[in-house]
Order: sequence, then structure tokens, then C-alpha cells
Amino acid sequence: MEGLCAHKELQIGGRTLPFAHLLQTDSTNLRIKEAVRQGEILAPFLLLADRQSMGRGRLGRSFVSPEGGLYMSLLLRPAAPWEAGRVTLAAAVAVCRAIEELTGLFLKIKWVNDLFLHGKKVCGILAEGVGEMVIIGIGVNLVTPPGGFPHEAGPAGALDAGVDRFALAERISAHLLDDAERLHSPAILADYRARMPLVGRDISYTERGIEKHARVLGVAEDGGLMVSHAAGIQVLRSGEVSLGSAAFSDLE
Ligand code: BTN
Repeated sequence: MEGLCAHKELQIGGRTLPFAHLLQTDSTNLRIKEAVRQGEILAPFLLLADRQSMGRGRLGRSFVSPEGGLYMSLLLRPAAPWEAGRVTLAAAVAVCRAIEELTGLFLKIKWVNDLFLHGKKVCGILAEGVGEMVIIGIGVNLVTPPGGFPHEAGPAGALDAGVDRFALAERISAHLLDDAERLHSPAILADYRARMPLVGRDISYTERGIEKHARVLGVAEDGGLMVSHAAGIQVLRSGEVSLGSAAFSDLE
């Protein structure tokens, strides 16, 4: 497998961001993890690939990654100790802001970090820890592939806004480099909440194999989803929620 040593640099807001661009790889998150283990790279580092043969999603799923999309992994060392919830939340907001700046499109967030446009998922985010660093893997569907998205990908869509993926990767990285230094900024949480329209809606989720039904109360400071059900109030910290049709229409 190709190493990540021979890389270039981006200048972003007075900071230097080393980066590498691969035509093809298995998974940009895996490549970054491997390069960190081999001592080839330090944070910050950006890796882009034109396509992935084994794109990885949350909860052990795969992420379909044909040519034409943006597949990037950003290696960061957050100033605050590793906090999965806040990093994931900041990443979702960073991508939304970058896309809005470049296209004018307003994306909505389905907790925890699926980004939706017109009711279809256009971006997924997979944050993984490696030592004291965090790899933020971001996949954005920029164009609808010929024949559409495979059905197993769920209700998937694309931006189809003619956005340049290198420009988008740079904007996302600029936001995340800033955010890594101020993970507890109230502005990040406020923007996340404004884009997460599920408050008051009924959802279901599975806990230890049992399906549960609850109403969404909001997003906690640490990125958890606060819900209420017959047994009281609970904060969900991981996993996935399923939406009823009323809640789903809020992502339109
Ligand atoms: C999800 O929707 O479950 C998360 C998908 C994350 C996909 C991105 S694409 C770039 C990076 N490399 C991977 O293998 N996964 C992430």
C-alpha cells in the first residue's frame, strides 16, 4: 500500500496543513490510522481520495464511495481531551457551514452526524480516535451517480451543485482546524441545534436488542441526544435513531 510521506501543503488562515491525494484507496480513515501507527504523519494532516473500495461507515456499515464524491479524512489533535461527542458534533457543523458558504444550500442534521438535503442523506461522518488524536472521516455525495445510489444506502442523495471537491475539503478543514481549538464553543452547539429539527418528534432506537420509543427533548452539551419515555429521561450517546414519518419530513 502506498505510503503518505510524499505530500503537499495547504495554507489555511495562516496555518499549514500537510495533505496527500490518492486516486484510489480502501478507506482514507484506515490509511490515516496506518500512517500514524507507522510514524509517517502527525496532526494536522488531510487525506483525500477520488474513490474508496472499502469506505467505512458508522456501526460497522460500509460507505459506498464511487468516483465523483468527496472522501476525506482529517487528523487532528484537539486542544481539549478527546471527547467523541463534541468532535462529531463539531464535524457535522463544519461540513454544513462549508457547504452553505460554497453553494448556499442549507443542510439539516439527523443525530448524530448524518447530513440531509431535501430529505436525503448527502453526507456521513465517521470520527475515530487514534492515541490522543482524532480522525474525522467525511464522505459527501457531490453528484448523483449514473443509475442513482444503491438502495441499501438508504435514502441517499447528492448536492448536485457543481461544487469543487478540493475547495470544499479546504473550507471544511478550515472550520475544523478552528473548532479543534474551541470544542466547547456555544456557537457550535447552537448551530448544531438549529440544524437538528427533531425536537418534540417521536423516534425509536434499539438498546441491548430491545426496541424503544421516545420523544426527542434536545441535544445535550456533550452531543448526546436527550429523550423522554415512559421510564423517564435518558441521554443517548451512540447508536442510531429511526424516525417516524412526521420526524422524517422535518429533514425535507
Ligand atoms: C456513515 O455515514 O456511517 C459515515 C460515513 C463516513 C464515510 C467517510 S468517507 C471518508 C472516510 N473514510 C472512510 O472509510 N469513511 C469515512
